[in-house]
This record gives sequence, C-alpha cells and structure tokens, in this order.
Amino acid sequence: MIVAVDGPTASGKGTIAKALAAHFHLPHLDTGLLYRAVGRQCLLDGGDPDDPVAALAACSFPEGLLLDPELRSETTGGLASRVSVHPAVRQALYERQRSFALQPGGAVLDGRDIGTVIAPEAGTKLFVIASVEARAQRRFLEMQAQQREITLEAIAADLAARDERDRSRKDAPLVAAPDAIVIDTSDLRREEAVAAAIAAVDARR
Ligand code: C5P
Repeated sequence: MIVAVDGPTASGKGTIAKALAAHFHLPHLDTGLLYRAVGRQCLLDGGDPDDPVAALAACSFPEGLLLDPELRSETTGGLASRVSVHPAVRQALYERQRSFALQPGGAVLDGRDIGTVIAPEAGTKLFVIASVEARAQRRFLEMQAQQREITLEAIAADLAARDERDRSRKDAPLVAAPDAIVIDTSDLRREEAVAAAIAAVDARR
C-alpha cells in the first residue's frame, strides 16, 4: 500500500501525509526534507545552489543534517527549490525515496513528484492544493507564533515564486498525476482535510 501525497508548499500535504501514516500505521517520508538538506548543505559548503556540480556535491550531506531545525526555514525552502531543479540532484535522491516507497507493508510519501516519478504505481495518489492566499495566511500565522518579522505580502510573493519554479522546471515538475485525487484545503479545517484524505485512501483499497 503506497500513498503518494503531492502538492505545493503550505498546501497542507505534510499535515495530511503525517495523519494518514498515523491512521494506517505506515511509515512516512517527507521528501521535501531531503531537498532542504541538499540546499542547506550547499549553503554550508559555500556552493552556488544554481550550479549543478555544487548542488550534486551537497547530496552527500551527513544524515545528522536532517535533524537541523534550520531545514524548516523559508530560506532553506528557497534553496531547496533551487537545487531541486537539477536532474542530477533528483537522480541522486531517487533511490532513497524509491526504496522507502517499496518497503514491505507500504508507506506514505509526500513531495512534488511522488505520484508521477517516484512511485507511479501508488495505490492512492492525492494532489493537495490551496489558494496562494490561504497558504500565505497559514505561513504567516506560523511565523508570527515563532515571532518572526515578515509581512503577509512577502510570504505570498515567496510562495508564488516557488510555485512557479516547481511547476516550470523541465525535470519532474509539480503536476498532478492523471489518476490523482485533488483535495483543495483552502476552506477546510485541518480535521476536514484529513478526513477527506482518509476517505480517499479507503475508497482506493
Ligand atoms: O515540501 P517542501 O517545501 O519541504 O519542499 C522544498 C522544495 O523541495 C520544494 O519547493 C521543491 O522545489 C523541492 N521538492 C521537490 N520534490 C519533492 C519534494 C520537494 O522538488 N519530492
């Protein structure tokens, strides 16, 4: 049982993937974290994230980096979106994601290309979307809680830029698989979005 959860930043896909994993007792991989680790490592190395050679070298980041709280920052998210454009980086991270998906008993993976590239055979594919306004508002509240100084407009602009980069890249762009079920979380509360996702998985089993 493989569950693929794809969608843009702050759409709610991470929350949904975690809840599905808990509900169906499956292991969960947040694949964005791998790209974030590459972006962060590239920065630590003093490399240029737009340079495929520097970005590829950063793919051999130490495992411990995955626990770095800095991986969750907007800055690292931006770096991740730049290194993830390079086909060599995507290829370097492929095997790890693929074997996670294929473990006996199944798994939940969330990202951008799980249903299209990493596990096209997934029994359930969800494509989680939300309006830029709803996503910016969520991020804004999260950041206020962390006392970070940033405006709603700046967050919305950053989200839109990242969406554009993820959608327009040649290799594994952010796009719904033809057989994906779309869940729009713009007007859903967390519990409603999770319930819709559980129902979708149940319907495919
Ligand atoms: O999901 P998250 O915001 O953590 O992802 C960070 C960046 O990593 C995304 O903007 C995207 O460019 C990249 N990514 C990707 N493929 C994935 C997961 C993330 O290209 N499967």
